[in-house]
Amino acid sequence: MAPLITVRHLVKRFGGIVAVNDVSFDIHEGETLGFIGPNGAGKSTVVNCLTGYIAADEGVVTMNGVDITKMKPHERAHMGLARTYQIPRPFPELTALTSVLASSISGKKRINQSFQDAMYDATHYLEFVGLFSKRNILARDLTFYELRMLELARALATTPKLLFIDEVMAGLNPGEAKNATRMIVRAKEQFNVTVFWIEHVMAVLMEAADRIVAINYGAKLAEGTPEEVVNNDDVIEAYLGRGWRNYA
Ligand SMILES: Nc1ncnc2c1ncn2[C@@H]1O[C@H](COP(=O)(O)OP(=O)(O)OP(=O)(O)O)[C@@H](O)[C@H]1O
Ligand SMILES: [Mg+2]
Repeated sequence: MAPLITVRHLVKRFGGIVAVNDVSFDIHEGETLGFIGPNGAGKSTVVNCLTGYIAADEGVVTMNGVDITKMKPHERAHMGLARTYQIPRPFPELTALTSVLASSISGKKRINQSFQDAMYDATHYLEFVGLFSKRNILARDLTFYELRMLELARALATTPKLLFIDEVMAGLNPGEAKNATRMIVRAKEQFNVTVFWIEHVMAVLMEAADRIVAINYGAKLAEGTPEEVVNNDDVIEAYLGRGWRNYA
């Protein structure tokens, strides 16, 4: 099967730092691809390059065979790429419902939808993430967990083919983290999206991911099934440590 996304020889430098150093991998349609590596390994930078939030210095990214390397973020969104941010980026002065409505409208190429239908959709995504009762609350008054869920609703409202999740659990308490991860798995099932998932808690990806790519210092360390990757000596050495299962 042809891959949904191909990443070839991706390079991103920040001054003297090579944040992403010649990384290549595929994202297959329908899979959950885990993306792991130590702090500062370049994970978020890869997502930023793939979604067009920052420009790669070198390399080629294709989606369904189309070269998207130079496309603007909104063009990529229209092609079906959506993301959540490691640190939520709400519009503080918009209500939860208006926030979702805004991304629903901006995430689509042509709006052949009545305003009422758009409202209905936005309400549906808010309901899905459990924020229906907060629909009229300003984003600035939401809790951190609620902001994360709002991000997810906004991403889903663009009806993506591929959803990039940049750490859904960070900053959440254990109960919230569990809900949040469950929500990603449900979103994948319900909306039929491919998921690219950065997460530090390995136990979550061991369960949810079909495959995992590991990076360190911007370079790919390993790629394979979760079992293969967590048993890879380079991954253990650079990231997981021996006996990580005892702590997961
Ligand atoms: N906008 C930027 N300007 C300068 N340096 C940056 C920028 N973004 C990232 N970096 C640097 O690039 C490297 C990779 O950072 P990145 O945020 O991609 O890592 P990460 O794997 O997502 O880490 P974490 O697990 O902590 O989120 C780091 O050295 C970081 O300091
Ligand atoms: Mg990051």
